Amino acid sequence: MYVLGIETSCDETSASVVKDGRTVLSNIVASSLNQHKKYGGIIPEIAFRMQLDTITGVTDSALKEAKLKLNDIKLVSVTSGPGLLGSLLVGISFAKAISFSGKIPLLGVNHLYGHIYAAFLNNNKLELPFVALVVSGGHTSLLYIKDFDKIELLGSTRDDACGEAFDKVAKILKLGYPGGPVIERMAQGGNPGKIKFNCSNTKDPLDFSFSGIKTAVLYCIRDTPRPQLAQIKDISASFQETVINTLVKKSMLACKMKKQKLLVVAGGVAANNRLREKFLQAAGENSIKCLFPEKKLCMDNAAMVAGLGYHLHKLGYDSSLGISADLG
Ligand code: KG4
Ligand code: ZN
Repeated sequence: MYVLGIETSCDETSASVVKDGRTVLSNIVASSLNQHKKYGGIIPEIAFRMQLDTITGVTDSALKEAKLKLNDIKLVSVTSGPGLLGSLLVGISFAKAISFSGKIPLLGVNHLYGHIYAAFLNNNKLELPFVALVVSGGHTSLLYIKDFDKIELLGSTRDDACGEAFDKVAKILKLGYPGGPVIERMAQGGNPGKIKFNCSNTKDPLDFSFSGIKTAVLYCIRDTPRPQLAQIKDISASFQETVINTLVKKSMLACKMKKQKLLVVAGGVAANNRLREKFLQAAGENSIKCLFPEKKLCMDNAAMVAGLGYHLHKLGYDSSLGISADLG
Protein backbone atom coordinates (compact mmCIF):
# COMPACT_ATOMS: atom_id res chain seq x y z
CA MET A 1 0.00 0.00 0.00
CA TYR A 2 1.40 3.39 -1.07
CA VAL A 3 1.03 6.28 1.37
CA LEU A 4 1.71 9.92 0.53
CA GLY A 5 3.12 11.83 3.51
CA ILE A 6 3.04 15.62 3.85
CA GLU A 7 5.06 17.48 6.50
CA THR A 8 5.04 21.26 6.99
CA SER A 9 5.19 21.74 10.75
CA CYS A 10 8.19 24.09 10.89
CA ASP A 11 10.50 25.44 8.15
CA GLU A 12 10.55 22.35 5.92
CA THR A 13 8.15 21.50 3.10
CA SER A 14 8.33 17.75 2.61
CA ALA A 15 6.44 15.10 0.65
CA SER A 16 7.20 11.39 0.55
CA VAL A 17 5.84 8.12 -0.74
CA VAL A 18 6.32 5.11 1.54
CA LYS A 19 5.31 1.55 0.68
CA ASP A 20 3.73 -0.59 3.42
CA GLY A 21 5.02 1.67 6.19
CA ARG A 22 8.66 0.60 5.69
CA THR A 23 10.05 1.24 2.20
CA VAL A 24 10.79 4.88 1.37
CA LEU A 25 10.25 5.36 -2.39
CA SER A 26 10.81 9.12 -2.27
CA ASN A 27 11.37 11.76 0.40
CA ILE A 28 11.68 15.31 -0.93
CA VAL A 29 12.57 18.01 1.59
CA ALA A 30 12.70 21.74 0.74
CA SER A 31 13.82 24.06 3.51
CA SER A 32 13.54 27.80 3.99
CA LEU A 33 16.36 27.64 6.57
CA ASN A 34 18.69 29.96 4.62
CA GLN A 35 16.07 32.70 4.68
CA HIS A 36 15.78 32.50 8.49
CA LYS A 37 19.50 32.38 9.31
CA LYS A 38 20.01 36.13 9.40
CA TYR A 39 17.26 36.45 12.05
CA GLY A 40 18.82 33.75 14.30
CA GLY A 41 15.63 31.65 14.37
CA ILE A 42 12.55 30.63 12.40
CA ILE A 43 10.24 33.46 11.29
CA PRO A 44 6.79 31.81 10.93
CA GLU A 45 5.59 34.24 8.22
CA ILE A 46 8.60 33.46 5.99
CA ALA A 47 8.21 29.72 6.62
CA PHE A 48 4.58 29.39 5.60
CA ARG A 49 4.84 31.70 2.58
CA MET A 50 7.62 29.51 1.20
CA GLN A 51 5.60 26.39 2.00
CA LEU A 52 2.66 27.78 0.03
CA ASP A 53 4.97 28.37 -2.94
CA THR A 54 6.70 24.99 -2.86
CA ILE A 55 4.24 22.36 -1.67
CA THR A 56 2.78 21.54 -5.08
CA GLY A 57 6.20 21.14 -6.74
CA VAL A 58 7.59 19.12 -3.83
CA THR A 59 4.62 16.73 -3.93
CA ASP A 60 4.86 16.36 -7.73
CA SER A 61 8.56 15.50 -7.34
CA ALA A 62 7.81 12.93 -4.62
CA LEU A 63 5.27 11.15 -6.86
CA LYS A 64 7.57 11.35 -9.87
CA GLU A 65 10.56 9.93 -7.98
CA ALA A 66 8.37 7.09 -6.71
CA LYS A 67 7.22 6.52 -10.32
CA LEU A 68 3.59 6.70 -9.23
CA LYS A 69 0.44 8.65 -10.05
CA LEU A 70 -1.95 10.14 -7.53
CA ASN A 71 -4.47 7.35 -8.11
CA ASP A 72 -1.90 4.77 -6.88
CA ILE A 73 -1.96 6.47 -3.46
CA LYS A 74 -4.22 4.79 -0.90
CA LEU A 75 -3.78 7.22 2.01
CA VAL A 76 -2.73 10.84 2.49
CA SER A 77 -1.01 11.21 5.86
CA VAL A 78 -0.29 14.75 7.03
CA THR A 79 1.28 16.28 10.13
CA SER A 80 -1.60 17.91 12.00
CA GLY A 81 0.50 19.14 14.94
CA PRO A 82 2.28 20.25 16.97
CA GLY A 83 4.08 22.97 15.05
CA LEU A 84 3.68 26.50 13.68
CA LEU A 85 0.01 27.24 13.02
CA GLY A 86 0.38 28.82 9.56
CA SER A 87 2.81 26.14 8.40
CA LEU A 88 0.61 23.28 9.62
CA LEU A 89 -2.41 24.79 7.88
CA VAL A 90 -0.59 24.85 4.52
CA GLY A 91 0.11 21.10 4.71
CA ILE A 92 -3.30 20.19 6.11
CA SER A 93 -5.21 22.24 3.50
CA PHE A 94 -3.12 20.76 0.70
CA ALA A 95 -3.61 17.21 2.00
CA LYS A 96 -7.37 17.79 2.28
CA ALA A 97 -7.52 19.03 -1.32
CA ILE A 98 -5.71 15.90 -2.55
CA SER A 99 -7.91 13.67 -0.42
CA PHE A 100 -11.13 15.32 -1.63
CA SER A 101 -10.25 15.50 -5.31
CA GLY A 102 -8.72 12.00 -5.50
CA LYS A 103 -11.21 10.36 -3.10
CA ILE A 104 -8.27 9.14 -1.02
CA PRO A 105 -8.57 8.58 2.75
CA LEU A 106 -6.95 11.28 4.89
CA LEU A 107 -5.17 10.98 8.23
CA GLY A 108 -3.72 13.70 10.44
CA VAL A 109 -0.78 12.47 12.55
CA ASN A 110 1.32 13.74 15.45
CA HIS A 111 4.73 15.16 14.49
CA LEU A 112 6.46 13.90 17.63
CA TYR A 113 5.28 10.34 17.12
CA GLY A 114 6.38 10.68 13.49
CA HIS A 115 9.94 11.34 14.69
CA ILE A 116 9.81 8.08 16.65
CA TYR A 117 8.34 6.16 13.71
CA ALA A 118 11.37 7.23 11.62
CA ALA A 119 13.34 4.51 13.45
CA PHE A 120 11.16 1.83 11.77
CA LEU A 121 12.30 3.00 8.34
CA ASN A 122 15.88 1.76 8.75
CA ASN A 123 15.48 -0.87 11.48
CA ASN A 124 13.59 -3.85 10.08
CA LYS A 125 13.73 -5.67 13.38
CA LEU A 126 12.24 -2.87 15.49
CA GLU A 127 9.16 -4.11 17.29
CA LEU A 128 6.79 -2.63 19.84
CA PRO A 129 6.83 -1.93 22.77
CA PHE A 130 9.82 0.30 23.61
CA VAL A 131 10.87 3.44 25.43
CA ALA A 132 11.47 6.48 23.21
CA LEU A 133 13.31 9.74 23.73
CA VAL A 134 12.38 12.54 21.33
CA VAL A 135 14.89 15.38 21.28
CA SER A 136 14.11 18.09 18.75
CA GLY A 137 13.97 21.86 18.40
CA GLY A 138 10.49 21.95 19.91
CA HIS A 139 10.35 18.91 22.21
CA THR A 140 12.18 16.80 24.72
CA SER A 141 10.02 13.89 25.83
CA LEU A 142 10.41 10.41 27.20
CA LEU A 143 7.58 8.14 26.13
CA TYR A 144 6.54 4.53 26.49
CA ILE A 145 5.33 3.27 23.11
CA LYS A 146 3.05 0.30 23.59
CA ASP A 147 1.57 1.00 20.19
CA PHE A 148 1.25 4.22 18.20
CA ASP A 149 -2.24 4.74 19.60
CA LYS A 150 -1.18 3.68 23.11
CA ILE A 151 1.53 6.10 24.16
CA GLU A 152 2.36 7.01 27.73
CA LEU A 153 4.22 10.26 28.46
CA LEU A 154 6.90 9.49 31.05
CA GLY A 155 8.53 12.90 31.24
CA SER A 156 9.20 16.08 29.28
CA THR A 157 11.00 19.39 29.51
CA ARG A 158 9.75 21.95 31.99
CA ASP A 159 11.23 24.84 29.98
CA ASP A 160 13.42 24.86 26.84
CA ALA A 161 13.54 21.91 24.46
CA CYS A 162 16.93 20.24 24.04
CA GLY A 163 17.47 21.44 20.43
CA GLU A 164 16.28 24.89 21.49
CA ALA A 165 19.03 24.93 24.15
CA PHE A 166 21.64 24.07 21.48
CA ASP A 167 20.22 26.89 19.32
CA LYS A 168 20.23 29.44 22.16
CA VAL A 169 23.75 28.53 23.30
CA ALA A 170 24.99 28.86 19.70
CA LYS A 171 23.38 32.30 19.58
CA ILE A 172 25.11 33.32 22.84
CA LEU A 173 28.42 32.08 21.39
CA LYS A 174 27.62 33.90 18.09
CA LEU A 175 27.90 30.67 16.11
CA GLY A 176 24.75 31.10 13.99
CA TYR A 177 21.58 29.10 13.45
CA PRO A 178 20.74 26.21 13.73
CA GLY A 179 22.89 25.63 16.79
CA GLY A 180 23.09 21.84 17.03
CA PRO A 181 25.40 21.04 14.11
CA VAL A 182 27.77 23.97 14.78
CA ILE A 183 28.01 23.23 18.54
CA GLU A 184 28.78 19.62 17.64
CA ARG A 185 31.55 20.75 15.27
CA MET A 186 33.04 23.15 17.84
CA ALA A 187 32.82 20.51 20.57
CA GLN A 188 35.01 18.13 18.58
CA GLY A 189 38.04 20.33 19.25
CA GLY A 190 37.16 21.19 22.85
CA ASN A 191 37.64 19.68 26.30
CA PRO A 192 34.28 18.36 27.61
CA GLY A 193 35.57 18.34 31.20
CA LYS A 194 36.86 21.92 31.18
CA ILE A 195 33.77 23.69 32.55
CA LYS A 196 31.48 22.17 35.16
CA PHE A 197 27.97 22.79 33.86
CA ASN A 198 24.82 21.17 35.29
CA CYS A 199 21.30 20.60 34.05
CA SER A 200 18.88 21.75 36.78
CA ASN A 201 17.21 19.07 38.87
CA THR A 202 13.53 18.46 38.27
CA LYS A 203 10.87 17.37 40.73
CA ASP A 204 10.00 14.38 38.58
CA PRO A 205 13.22 12.45 37.75
CA LEU A 206 12.07 11.82 34.16
CA ASP A 207 11.44 15.51 33.42
CA PHE A 208 14.11 17.79 31.92
CA SER A 209 15.22 21.38 32.37
CA PHE A 210 17.64 23.13 30.03
CA SER A 211 17.09 26.84 30.63
CA GLY A 212 19.53 26.91 33.60
CA ILE A 213 22.47 25.53 31.64
CA LYS A 214 21.81 28.01 28.84
CA THR A 215 22.00 30.86 31.39
CA ALA A 216 25.19 29.33 32.85
CA VAL A 217 26.77 29.53 29.38
CA LEU A 218 25.68 33.16 29.14
CA TYR A 219 27.31 33.97 32.52
CA CYS A 220 30.43 32.08 31.52
CA ILE A 221 30.99 34.22 28.42
CA ARG A 222 29.46 37.62 29.26
CA ASP A 223 32.64 39.09 30.77
CA THR A 224 34.71 38.08 27.75
CA PRO A 225 33.72 40.34 24.84
CA ARG A 226 36.08 38.60 22.40
CA PRO A 227 36.46 34.98 23.48
CA GLN A 228 39.25 32.87 21.97
CA LEU A 229 38.31 30.02 19.67
CA ALA A 230 39.73 27.52 22.20
CA GLN A 231 37.37 28.90 24.86
CA ILE A 232 34.34 28.61 22.54
CA LYS A 233 35.33 25.01 21.80
CA ASP A 234 35.65 24.14 25.50
CA ILE A 235 32.29 25.75 26.32
CA SER A 236 30.62 23.93 23.40
CA ALA A 237 32.14 20.58 24.41
CA SER A 238 31.30 21.01 28.12
CA PHE A 239 27.72 22.14 27.38
CA GLN A 240 27.13 19.31 24.90
CA GLU A 241 28.57 16.68 27.23
CA THR A 242 26.45 17.80 30.19
CA VAL A 243 23.24 17.82 28.15
CA ILE A 244 23.96 14.39 26.63
CA ASN A 245 24.84 12.89 30.03
CA THR A 246 21.48 14.09 31.36
CA LEU A 247 19.59 12.65 28.38
CA VAL A 248 21.39 9.31 28.76
CA LYS A 249 20.86 9.08 32.53
CA LYS A 250 17.13 9.81 32.36
CA SER A 251 16.57 7.49 29.39
CA MET A 252 18.32 4.62 31.19
CA LEU A 253 16.16 5.32 34.25
CA ALA A 254 13.00 5.32 32.10
CA CYS A 255 13.97 1.90 30.64
CA LYS A 256 14.58 0.58 34.14
CA MET A 257 11.26 1.92 35.45
CA LYS A 258 9.34 0.42 32.52
CA LYS A 259 11.44 -2.80 32.59
CA GLN A 260 12.24 -2.26 28.89
CA LYS A 261 15.34 -3.43 27.06
CA LEU A 262 14.64 -1.47 23.87
CA LEU A 263 15.19 2.28 23.48
CA VAL A 264 14.66 4.53 20.45
CA VAL A 265 16.26 7.99 20.35
CA ALA A 266 14.79 10.27 17.67
CA GLY A 267 14.40 13.93 16.59
CA GLY A 268 16.90 16.44 15.21
CA VAL A 269 19.31 16.28 18.18
CA ALA A 270 19.60 12.48 17.68
CA ALA A 271 21.71 13.28 14.58
CA ASN A 272 24.52 14.26 17.00
CA ASN A 273 27.45 11.80 16.81
CA ARG A 274 28.59 12.26 20.41
CA LEU A 275 25.01 11.63 21.58
CA ARG A 276 24.85 8.39 19.57
CA GLU A 277 28.20 7.25 20.93
CA LYS A 278 27.27 7.91 24.57
CA PHE A 279 23.81 6.30 24.25
CA LEU A 280 25.28 3.18 22.67
CA GLN A 281 27.90 2.95 25.40
CA ALA A 282 25.38 3.32 28.27
CA ALA A 283 22.91 0.99 26.56
CA GLY A 284 25.62 -1.67 26.23
CA GLU A 285 26.47 -1.34 29.93
CA ASN A 286 22.79 -1.80 30.84
CA SER A 287 22.07 -4.62 28.33
CA ILE A 288 19.68 -2.34 26.46
CA LYS A 289 19.34 -2.21 22.68
CA CYS A 290 19.42 1.40 21.49
CA LEU A 291 18.25 2.32 17.98
CA PHE A 292 18.21 5.61 16.06
CA PRO A 293 16.59 6.66 12.79
CA GLU A 294 18.99 7.20 9.91
CA LYS A 295 20.62 10.64 10.39
CA LYS A 296 18.78 12.40 7.59
CA LEU A 297 15.47 10.98 8.90
CA CYS A 298 16.17 12.50 12.35
CA MET A 299 15.33 15.90 10.80
CA ASP A 300 11.80 16.87 9.83
CA ASN A 301 10.68 14.83 6.82
CA ALA A 302 7.49 13.41 5.33
CA ALA A 303 8.64 9.76 5.17
CA MET A 304 8.15 9.44 8.93
CA VAL A 305 4.66 10.95 8.55
CA ALA A 306 3.72 8.53 5.76
CA GLY A 307 5.06 5.56 7.76
CA LEU A 308 3.19 6.48 10.92
CA GLY A 309 0.02 7.14 8.89
CA TYR A 310 0.20 3.64 7.38
CA HIS A 311 0.54 2.08 10.81
CA LEU A 312 -2.39 4.04 12.32
CA HIS A 313 -4.58 3.47 9.25
CA LYS A 314 -4.02 -0.28 9.69
CA LEU A 315 -5.26 0.14 13.27
CA GLY A 316 -8.47 1.65 11.86
CA TYR A 317 -7.78 5.39 12.13
CA ASP A 318 -8.91 7.98 9.56
CA SER A 319 -9.56 11.72 9.70
CA SER A 320 -12.44 13.70 8.26
CA LEU A 321 -12.07 16.69 5.95
CA GLY A 322 -12.95 18.73 9.04
CA ILE A 323 -9.54 18.26 10.69
CA SER A 324 -7.52 21.30 11.60
CA ALA A 325 -4.17 22.02 13.18
CA ASP A 326 -3.68 20.47 16.60
CA LEU A 327 -1.18 22.67 18.43
CA GLY A 328 -1.02 20.17 21.30
O1 KG4 B 1 13.51 17.49 14.62
P1 KG4 B 1 13.97 18.76 14.04
O2 KG4 B 1 14.51 18.74 12.63
O3 KG4 B 1 12.85 19.85 14.06
C1 KG4 B 1 11.92 19.98 15.10
O4 KG4 B 1 10.91 19.24 15.10
O5 KG4 B 1 12.21 20.82 15.99
O6 KG4 B 1 15.08 19.32 15.04
C2 KG4 B 1 15.76 20.53 14.85
C3 KG4 B 1 16.66 20.74 16.05
C4 KG4 B 1 17.35 22.09 16.08
O7 KG4 B 1 17.18 22.67 17.36
C5 KG4 B 1 18.81 21.75 15.80
O8 KG4 B 1 19.73 22.65 16.42
C6 KG4 B 1 18.93 20.37 16.40
O9 KG4 B 1 17.71 19.73 16.08
N1 KG4 B 1 20.04 19.61 15.80
C7 KG4 B 1 21.09 19.15 16.50
C8 KG4 B 1 21.97 18.55 15.55
N2 KG4 B 1 21.39 18.63 14.33
C9 KG4 B 1 20.20 19.29 14.49
N3 KG4 B 1 21.40 19.22 17.81
C10 KG4 B 1 22.57 18.68 18.21
N4 KG4 B 1 23.46 18.12 17.37
C11 KG4 B 1 23.21 18.01 16.04
N5 KG4 B 1 24.08 17.46 15.22
ZN1 ZN C 1 10.53 17.77 14.20
